[in-house]
Order: sequence, then C-alpha cells, then structure tokens
Amino acid sequence: MYKTLMYEKKENIGLLTINRPEKMNAISQELTAELSLFLDEIENDDELRVIVITGAGDKAFVAGADINELVDRDARLGRRVSRERQEIFSRIENLHVPVIAAVNGYALGGGLELALACSIRICSEKAQFGAPEVKLGIIPGDGGTQRLPRLVGQGRAMEMIITGDFIDAQEAYRIGLVNKVFPPEKLKEEAMELAKKIASRPPLAVRYAKEAVNRSQEGDSASGFALESYLHALSCTTEDKKEGVSAFLEKRKGKFKGK
Ligand code: COA
Repeated sequence: MYKTLMYEKKENIGLLTINRPEKMNAISQELTAELSLFLDEIENDDELRVIVITGAGDKAFVAGADINELVDRDARLGRRVSRERQEIFSRIENLHVPVIAAVNGYALGGGLELALACSIRICSEKAQFGAPEVKLGIIPGDGGTQRLPRLVGQGRAMEMIITGDFIDAQEAYRIGLVNKVFPPEKLKEEAMELAKKIASRPPLAVRYAKEAVNRSQEGDSASGFALESYLHALSCTTEDKKEGVSAFLEKRKGKFKGK
C-alpha cells in the first residue's frame, strides 16, 4: 500500500494517480521513494500494456518538487535528489509499456518533468505548464533542461525555463507539448480510450517501436538506424507478426498474444 500514490489495474491497463491533493501533488522524498517501489512492482508485469498517470483532485497534475523540502537542500543533497529523480523518470521513459500523462491541472517543475518522461501527453483545458524553478533561484533537476528542448525546440524551452512563466493548455498544444486537449470531465475517459487502443495493438511491436522512437532523441542517427533495423528484425520473428499479416490478408481482426 502506498501513501502518496494510488494504483489500479483494469484488465491490462494501469492507472497511477499521484495522490497528495492537499499539496497539489508535489513530489516529496516519500513520493519519490514510493515511485521507485512502484516501478519495481510493475517493471516485471508482463500482462501490463499501458499506464496512464494523472494527479488526484481537479487542480494539479503535479505542482513540482515539495518546496518545504527545498529549505534544507544544499549542493550535496541537490545532486543526490536530482540524480535519483532523473533515474526514476528515465525508468518511466524506458518502461516496457507506453505511459500516457493525463495532465489534469498544474504540471510545474518536477510535474512538467514527469509528464515529459511519459510517452504521450494529453491534457485538460484547465492544465497549465511551467518550469518555475528559476523563480526559486534554482534550475530544473529532474531532466527538464534536456527533455523539454527535445520536445518543443530549444527556443520555446529556453523561454519557459529562464522566465519561469506558465503556459496554458492551448499554447502547450500549439507548441507540441501535448497531443490533445479535452474538457476536464472528459480527460480520464479519453486517456483510457487511447490506452485501450494502444493495448489492442501487438504488444511486442509497441514495445520495440517505443524503444526505437525513444532512441531517436539521443546520440547519432547511425546508431538509431542500426537499432531500428535490429528491432524491426526482431519484430519479424514474433508470432504476432505472423498473425497481424495473416489477419490483414484474410480480412479479419488480429488476435495478439505478445509473443
Ligand atoms: N510544494 C509544496 N507545497 C505546495 C507546492 C509545492 N510545489 N505547490 C503547492 N503547494 C501547496 C501550497 O503551499 C498550499 O498549501 P497550504 O494550503 O498548506 O498553504 C496548497 O498546496 C495549495 O496551493 P496554493 O498556492 O494555495 O494554490 P493556488 O491555486 O493559489 O496556486 C500554484 C497553485 C500551483 C500555482 C502554486 O501553489 C504554486 O506556484 N506552487 C509552486 C509551484 C513551483 O514553484 N513548483 C516548482 C518547485 S521546484
């Protein structure tokens, strides 16, 4: 049982809710430790197909690091906390299944960085996004300076990170930070619909595709192309590939096993 997280699994879709609504779901050390345990728990779940992450309540997805814990954060602690959260968010980014961030309100600081580590972001019309760290005299430490420019371009990312200004849902959509915007009451339903669609696809193909696309954001393209061709080759060895191709040719719906 977690104190700061809620997790439920419906069939093969997991719904993780960051659960400190009285503190705008801010990321405390306790929450960080629980996220790590949660990842230990689900990383070996082979039945799982997709995870949706959202925030409890109707105000915040996650309003950043718990500012109360910043009071005692010196250089040593700053480095440790930053490395720890970077590692956790990288585990989310590289999880064996896609992760959808359903951003239901403020996604600030570490909350923005959590959303950036997810595979796909959708949000409510009420969502706001920002990297307000600079206003506190610090800079992002959970991957934001690297993932935000990759997603929205260096100029947009630079402006958000050095002004600390928030942007609303429509602006986030315009710059490609989120894929879709929904009325608040529809967000969870739409996130589950998207999750169901992904869960209906051949799981190994989804997994290899996620890995190859993630790689496009790092290193040189030659190694990205090489990885793509190996993963493509691997996908050609699966039972699901036989089934997918046969189903198309026989004009029927494929039944996929993740094998
Ligand atoms: N850490 C700790 N507590 C936080 C928090 C955070 N990052 N963000 C919000 N809270 C707390 C507030 O202190 C307040 O607690 P209280 O009721 O005990 O006083 C509660 O959550 C509600 O927040 P409040 O500021 O009253 O709500 P609001 O609607 O006026 O403003 C925000 C919402 C998110 C814009 C504002 O809380 C905010 O700017 N938070 C900090 C964001 C930030 O700088 N994050 C990056 C940290 S590195």
